[in-house]
Amino acid sequence: MSAQTAIQTTDLTKTYSGARGEVIALNKASFTVEQGKTLALVGESGSGKTTVARLVLGLVPPTDGEVSILGQEISKLKEREMRSLRRDIQVVQQNPYSQLNRRHTVKRIVETPLKAFKEGKPAERNDRIVEMLEAVGLDAAYLRRRPHELSGGQCQRVAIARALVLNPKILILDEAVSALDVSVRAQVLNLLKSLQRERNLTYLFITHDLGVARYIADDIAVMFRGKIVEKGSREEVFEIPKHHYTKNLISSVPLAEPQEKSTKPKTIANLPNPNPSDACAYRSRCERGQVETECVSKVLVPNSNKSHQWLCHFPLNERI
Ligand SMILES: Nc1ncnc2c1ncn2[C@@H]1O[C@H](COP(=O)(O)OP(=O)(O)OP(=O)(O)O)[C@@H](O)[C@H]1O
Ligand SMILES: [Mg+2]
Repeated sequence: MSAQTAIQTTDLTKTYSGARGEVIALNKASFTVEQGKTLALVGESGSGKTTVARLVLGLVPPTDGEVSILGQEISKLKEREMRSLRRDIQVVQQNPYSQLNRRHTVKRIVETPLKAFKEGKPAERNDRIVEMLEAVGLDAAYLRRRPHELSGGQCQRVAIARALVLNPKILILDEAVSALDVSVRAQVLNLLKSLQRERNLTYLFITHDLGVARYIADDIAVMFRGKIVEKGSREEVFEIPKHHYTKNLISSVPLAEPQEKSTKPKTIANLPNPNPSDACAYRSRCERGQVETECVSKVLVPNSNKSHQWLCHFPLNERI
């Protein structure tokens, strides 16, 4: 890990046990985000994106694997050290309204982190809040407003102001622009880009929208059923996708789950599988996976140590 590494995960795994047995929400996910860069995590609903966010924020412990933030492995930190690291890593979530307390004014919302970390006297705090609001394109006139007096885009600007008021180094954005309509989304994305440049921020940007990922990210990790099935630079992933799922996502092929019984040939379904969690989870939805025996019988390991990696026995080899 270089001195510039903001987030590093190694074989990060999370299982939940529920009434219907064990759910592998995240399966050996490894990725790195350098300081000042953006990694977009993309994938359909339930693929494990928010689970990554929770683990990276230290809100839930991993079942296996490690998370390091700014060079510190978080499971080894004492409570006091973890608290001080929390200043450096903040989160912005999806719903502009529900993530802000409806009864609080904008001033109080943005002041909350300052108070929690006992930063500055009230007058200094006020200056910092106004400065922060201006940085996100709002002015002092908004201080006394409450969330219901703001538009969705303005709410999201307030959420960004709250996340940045302690000058963190890392921002986790979990579907942070998904609820906004198209033109407001573009404004907020541009704001995030300029804040990143000015403050050398690192973003872990979670989105199911590939257009947004392509616009904002330096690197992309594509998730499917708890696994990172492909990762690489934005150019690699969008121009020469190797995984069939990535290509289908890019070309917006409908992703409805087919009826497994009718689509999976018997010969493949009956083959021994070394370990279900190590074979390809995408095979029943993949043209190749439905006819190739290896897709069900052979353990998948990442193809290389290079930046562009994929989990597929039959990678694509075409530029799109
Ligand atoms: N606390 C929990 N208990 C049990 N299962 C969970 C829990 N949290 C998540 N899961 C399961 O883990 C899997 C991954 O969930 P996660 O929320 O990470 O997906 P996601 O990619 O963020 O989806 P979305 O795009 O809908 O937000 C899902 O199958 C989900 O049902
Ligand atoms: Mg989610």
